[in-house]
Amino acid sequence: MFFRRALAQIQRHHPLSARLPCTTRPPRSTVELLKADTSYNTPLTLTQAVSLSSLTQNSLEAETGASIGVSKDGGILNVKWQEGPDARFHGVWLRHNCHCDQCRAPAGQRKKNVLDYPETATISDLHLHDDYVALSWYEEKGHVTRVPLQFLRQHCYSKEVLEKRDMDSRPKTYSQEGIPQISLKDVQNSQEGLLRWLEYISDYGMCLVKDIPTKPEQIAKTFQVVNEPDPINIAYSVSRLNLHMDLLNYESPPGLQLLHCLSFDSCVTGGGSHLLDVFHVAERFRESHPQEFRDLARIPATFQRIHFERENPVYMTFQRPHILLNHRDEIAAVFWTQQNEGPLAVAEEDVEAYYRAYRLFAAQIRFSDMLKCVKLEPGDAIVFNNRRVLHGREEFTLNGGRRHLEGCYVNIDEFKSHYRCLSHALGRPVGEPARRVGNQCWF
Ligand SMILES: [Fe+2]
Ligand SMILES: [Zn+2]
Repeated sequence: MFFRRALAQIQRHHPLSARLPCTTRPPRSTVELLKADTSYNTPLTLTQAVSLSSLTQNSLEAETGASIGVSKDGGILNVKWQEGPDARFHGVWLRHNCHCDQCRAPAGQRKKNVLDYPETATISDLHLHDDYVALSWYEEKGHVTRVPLQFLRQHCYSKEVLEKRDMDSRPKTYSQEGIPQISLKDVQNSQEGLLRWLEYISDYGMCLVKDIPTKPEQIAKTFQVVNEPDPINIAYSVSRLNLHMDLLNYESPPGLQLLHCLSFDSCVTGGGSHLLDVFHVAERFRESHPQEFRDLARIPATFQRIHFERENPVYMTFQRPHILLNHRDEIAAVFWTQQNEGPLAVAEEDVEAYYRAYRLFAAQIRFSDMLKCVKLEPGDAIVFNNRRVLHGREEFTLNGGRRHLEGCYVNIDEFKSHYRCLSHALGRPVGEPARRVGNQCWF
């Protein structure tokens, strides 16, 4: 149960709701802030805010060093941080992110429907406090919106910030390195060790855990990968497994996959595990075959699992393209499992384009120089991100021996959340580090 324990450990020590530090200093109004400047001696109104539009000349400055002003039409709050690019926040965005008690529950959830307030939000008054900004609105007299400065800093959406976030969240490639390794002891004995393990999985999509007792059910709810006489799944045979992701017939396929090696006798030949970062392959495919890349992002494949003659009969079909792009044309997910694909069911004019692109992509996967191969030893567990890394295995011959892996899955969003919470609890900035994990979102 080592993985389950590790995750439980994170939750016990690090509650999900980290609170921002509170200052005890009373809030300063704009009046107080601007006293030194003789041109201002009344609370700031929109008319006066107009003159704040040029941040270099007139602005409010918070203890944190941030200075703010409002655009001439009252539609935009301009923020200049002590360091980093300037930020602009639209009135409608600020109104939607109001932190006042009427708008937001203590745990951070929104209490209002967007239809509860006006369509436009024009700033009519502005007060800067030590750690938050208070805004009044022309359209909504009497409502004072509060937004913490730290929240603005964290959720700034300027082009530079979004581009930097995209860069920072890029998964690391491992072309020059082997699969990262860690011992179970290190994962269990300290929060730092646990974080390092999560970091390897986040950065590289995979990690080999060593020195696990070779007893069953060391990991959470399991499935057994052992050859059977009449397998319900090709995985439970001795055959070669082509590179694939598991269970793409689900709307939300499994995230992390853990395979714990219970036995792998030395007389067994073959049976090495294959791993390949398909995000990397897809990016290369975009460069080498732009048209076919587009086709794979456009034409839906059929993923299916239909099997009645088993203990729990299954009938699932799911149609979607192999590559999912987001609104910025970035790869947000890849879906690849030749073994569980059903018949293509698309417009006639797309059939040949699909197969041309499909074959080319399959070839890039098959012949990628990024393929990693690891032969597990008893006591090893390979952990990899099923949403980013394809897995497969060599055919094997038992020669009288035994090969037995025990596997389990962990939801990818839970993984990402645990990783962020632990990282935050150990002193890293909020929201970092969080690489894209292939959960159909690149944020
Ligand atoms: Fe699999
Ligand atoms: Zn509010």
